[in-house]
This record gives sequence, structure tokens and C-alpha cells, in this order.
Amino acid sequence: MLDFAIDLGRRAGALLRDGLARQRTIELKGAFDLVTDMDHASEDLIVSAITAEFPDHAILAEESGAIGEAELTWLIDPLDGTNNYAHGFPYFCVSLGLWRGRTPLLGVLYNPMLDELFSATAGGGAQCNGRPIHVSETATLSAALISTGFPYTYATTPENNLREFDRIQSRCQGVRRGGAAALDLAYVAMGRLDAHWEMCLKPWDTGAAALLVLESGGRLSDWRGEPWHPWADRLIASNSHIHDELIQAIS
Ligand code: IPD
Ligand code: CA
Ligand code: CA
Repeated sequence: MLDFAIDLGRRAGALLRDGLARQRTIELKGAFDLVTDMDHASEDLIVSAITAEFPDHAILAEESGAIGEAELTWLIDPLDGTNNYAHGFPYFCVSLGLWRGRTPLLGVLYNPMLDELFSATAGGGAQCNGRPIHVSETATLSAALISTGFPYTYATTPENNLREFDRIQSRCQGVRRGGAAALDLAYVAMGRLDAHWEMCLKPWDTGAAALLVLESGGRLSDWRGEPWHPWADRLIASNSHIHDELIQAIS
């Protein structure tokens, strides 16, 4: 299954990379929530491959929704970072995760622009292009580089992460807002970032990256330190060393 997911992630990523320079069809799902023809092309490729290879698995994919019901479910984001992609800003990825209920089994995430293929299996560690990856050793928030994101409903809700942004920004070496949460989380797993926090993420955003963070030695929780799962509204992912400090700063 890992080989299958790696091959599929690479194929979908190549499709996105090759389509980046072309004219794109862009539709609005909400005021600032976009979908392009390439989101659909990537998702069609992924869903048809999974359905053909594992007809007894369920799929939850961003653009198609839920397909089937089964013990094993693939969480698919065919293009994380759509708004970046629509503007030609090269920070995006493909994300495929396999879960049994709320337990992650396998995660594959591919950034075709840097040709970086992240993978993890439960108990099998996390890798980037086949080499083991680990979270950073950064011990304090004041020495950390952190990322976040803002919900598409930013302008219409007071719960929009701005207060939290202000608090964290003034306590660490920098907060980055990349626009592709799954890729941000992969960067936590490989130590380029020390933590990521966000609200309103969906199961397909975290379907692969959650396992990457756990298998590389990181920690996941909600904003109060309670156990996190892909349907939870608020996520903190960290190198584990700065986790409690980040929870305190956010709250
Ligand atoms: C979005 C990105 C963004 C995050 C949003 C997600 P999409 O996914 O991950 O960084 O802030 O909450 O919806 O729409 O580009 O797949
Ligand atoms: Ca996404
Ligand atoms: Ca997406």
C-alpha cells in the first residue's frame, strides 16, 4: 500500500507541476475559497486509482466528499495550497493518508516543485525521499520558527486566529503563513519548522501529515492539550519540546 500511495502521490504531483504554468479554470467555493481544474484532475486520478486497486476501501476526498463506507478510509487532498497554485505561487502539495477510524496507518505527501516525497507508516518512522526525518531539537518558544494559517471565513468571524497570531508572533523568532497547511506540517516533521497551529482544518488537510509529525517524534493536540483527531477543529503540531509552552501562549 505504501508503494502504491508513493507512486500515486508522485503521479498526481507531476500533473500539478506540469499544469502550473498553464491557464487555469478557477471557480469560487466561498468568497476566498478557490478550486481549479487541476484540483479536479488530480483528485480524479487519485480516486480512480484507489477505487481500482482497493475497491473495498472508503475515500474521503476534498472535492468529491465521502465515497463508500469501510474500516479503512483514504483521506485525500488532491492539491493542498489551491490559492497559492491559482496564483502560480509554488508552495503546494498532494496529500494521501490511510486511516482505520481515528488511527493513522500511512501517510504520503508530495511537493512536486522540490521533488520532496514525504512518507510515514504507523510504527515505521517518517522519511523524506527515503531518508529518515526527525522533528527539530528547538527547546524554547523564543528560539522557534512557527507556522499558522487563517480560515477562509476570516473576514466574517471574530474567531479568526488573529489574537493568537499576535500572541505567538511576539514570543518566537517568526511566524510563517505559507498557505498549504499539509506542507507546513511536513516541514514540522522534518525540522524546518518547530511547530504549526491552526483552526478549521479539515480531515484531508491533515490526513497524511499527522502521521508524519507523530512518526518523526512530534506531538499533536488541540489548543488545550487534549487529544487531537482529524475532525477536531483546532490543531497544534510541534517538535514536542515547545508544545506546552505553545499551548500556554495560545490560551
Ligand atoms: C487550505 C490550506 C491552507 C489552510 C486552509 C486549507 P486548500 O487547503 O491548507 O493553508 O489555511 O484552511 O483549507 O483549500 O488549499 O486545499
Ligand atoms: Ca487543503
Ligand atoms: Ca485542496
